[in-house]
Amino acid sequence: MKGIKIFSPATVANLACGFDVIGLALDLPKDEIFLYKSNKPGIRINRIHGTSLPNDPKKNVAFVALQFLLKKYEQKQRFEKEEKIGFEIELIKNIHPGSGIGSSAASAAGVVYGANILLGNPFSTIQLIRFAMEGERVASGTAHADNVAPSIMGGITLVRSYKPLDITKLHAPNELWVSVIHPQIEIKTSDAREILKQKILMTDAIRQWGNVGALVAGFYQENYGLISRSLEDVIVEPIRAMLIPAFYELKIRCKEIGALGGGISGSGPSVFMLSKGSYTAKKVTEVMNRVYSPLKVDYKTYTSPINQQGVKWSKIF
Ligand code: HSE
Repeated sequence: MKGIKIFSPATVANLACGFDVIGLALDLPKDEIFLYKSNKPGIRINRIHGTSLPNDPKKNVAFVALQFLLKKYEQKQRFEKEEKIGFEIELIKNIHPGSGIGSSAASAAGVVYGANILLGNPFSTIQLIRFAMEGERVASGTAHADNVAPSIMGGITLVRSYKPLDITKLHAPNELWVSVIHPQIEIKTSDAREILKQKILMTDAIRQWGNVGALVAGFYQENYGLISRSLEDVIVEPIRAMLIPAFYELKIRCKEIGALGGGISGSGPSVFMLSKGSYTAKKVTEVMNRVYSPLKVDYKTYTSPINQQGVKWSKIF
């Protein structure tokens, strides 16, 4: 049996205006995954540390993503050698499920990335993203790519189109740092999507696509003022904000101390803020702590640079 140890990063999806299309990878927190290739067919999840995840394999994102990859691999191999392949998974979950920082994406991205290496790299990055998206479909009811893409590709990514799947990596300014607060309340992505409107006003759409375009331009120009002005979501945030305690107070206080701006991380409950430089980002995280400490809600905070590499492996054994 051959195995690999993988580190799979947390991600922030949407980045305010880019619902379902923009996401970035964080340096912290990250899941650790041990993946073993065996000649016993099938996929087995041997152990999960750090949380309890569904025992039913059909509901486990890592299982589902890997199953899609294995099926495709077997189709590719049909006319070649008859090799029996299976995988054993051990997950160390440092990213809390339901946190809004891409916990399910990290599991799905990590296993497909590791399996590809153990199989000799038969799949392209876009294929790996597709497999991992099937995990997201199980977790949230929608195969969105704005967490799995940055988890696999690293940096900041943009989904130009879902059909056909067309994803590109954007320039991420060196000095861009992220502060995240994870209030430990449960918000299911499926519920947070259910409450959204299916039709939007033309005036809101115009404002939103102006912001998306300008945010991308801001990243390329390393224009922090433009990034700051573009971190505005007039479509999703006004509906989801009510799910998160003290959301607007967080935003106001973090911007007062110097954050460029931010919003809900993915479907929440985590809230993210972008800052220029680690010094300001740490001050922003302190403010997040100050806003939340009087509330009767447990929480965790993170201060992280952007993870340029995404998922990575540390050793093969
Ligand atoms: N774009 C997705 C959403 C991300 O906001 O529903 C979920 O993490």
